Amino acid sequence: MTSNKGIALVNLDDDGVDRAFRADVLQGLSEEQKAIPARWLYDDAGSELFEKITQLPEYYPTRAETEILKAQGHEFADLIGADRAVVEFGSGSSVKTPLLLHAINPAAYVPLDIAGDFLRASSAELAAKFPGLPVYPVEADFMRRVELPDEVSNLPKLGFFPGSTIGNMVARTAVDLLRTMRQTLRQESKLLIGMDLIKDPAVLIAAYDDAAGVTAEFNYNLVRRINRELGGDIALDALRHEARWNDEFARIEMHLVATRDLTFSVSGKPFTMREGQSIHTENSHKFCRRTSNTLLLAGGWTPVKRWTDSEGRFSLVLADATITRSAP
Ligand code: AVJ
Repeated sequence: MTSNKGIALVNLDDDGVDRAFRADVLQGLSEEQKAIPARWLYDDAGSELFEKITQLPEYYPTRAETEILKAQGHEFADLIGADRAVVEFGSGSSVKTPLLLHAINPAAYVPLDIAGDFLRASSAELAAKFPGLPVYPVEADFMRRVELPDEVSNLPKLGFFPGSTIGNMVARTAVDLLRTMRQTLRQESKLLIGMDLIKDPAVLIAAYDDAAGVTAEFNYNLVRRINRELGGDIALDALRHEARWNDEFARIEMHLVATRDLTFSVSGKPFTMREGQSIHTENSHKFCRRTSNTLLLAGGWTPVKRWTDSEGRFSLVLADATITRSAP
């Protein structure tokens, strides 16, 4: 039997290469519509580039969500109360989490993250800001049910999932995650979740294809990572960043589009792309009131209150773990 504490979060083969990364890339490049899971965008360089994205004039979600957190503190306090343990899915960002903690003054804070180093650093920072607040970081993959620390087992929970990260998942995966969160948080829990809203496609496309080219760099970084870690020789100058609005599925897609026919190899395997063919690298789903409600309900959460920023660009939704009872 392996103990829970010794779980290896990355699986390295003899070359020190993340096997899951290689498998996803080789599989994803073999399809006609090439696609690589968006999680691989976030290595150290990618995470730094995403931080830069949040500062861009065109990238409104971070500012809009922060505005809501600043403006609605008293309502959060009324509706959530001070007795709960806040469980954050993903390590707290330095800006958003303190706003929530200040507003509701919770009984404990439990950040969950798969990246242990980042988790420890952000937990220490938060603990210093909130001297009286017990902080219990948990290194875990929150896509699976997480065993929370004994210290918070008798406290009611508030799940916090900001940033519209839920929008990175297709509906089926998003519903799985919401159901898993409900299992992690248990009965009588609440969830405060950020969901970006459908708007003028021109505004959305600008947010994902900024004038300074930071989002393009973020997308290219995936190719650099493939070339470096998987021994690839993909010509970066033959790919262009594209942010595409998919109206049918209400999502922004990031693609890397071949500007000419090209051949390359990754881990010794040959691939070809025709001019115009693309590698799909990220989805960012956008919601309206009804689609966000439907998604939450499908995942076992009953929406109770919804806030938007002053320009109606972004929403924060408070939901209750749905009580199981007979329904028509
Ligand atoms: C990290 C999922 C919130 O989808 O808006 C930003 C990622 N990608 N620009 C988003 C992202 C390109 C971002 N999230």
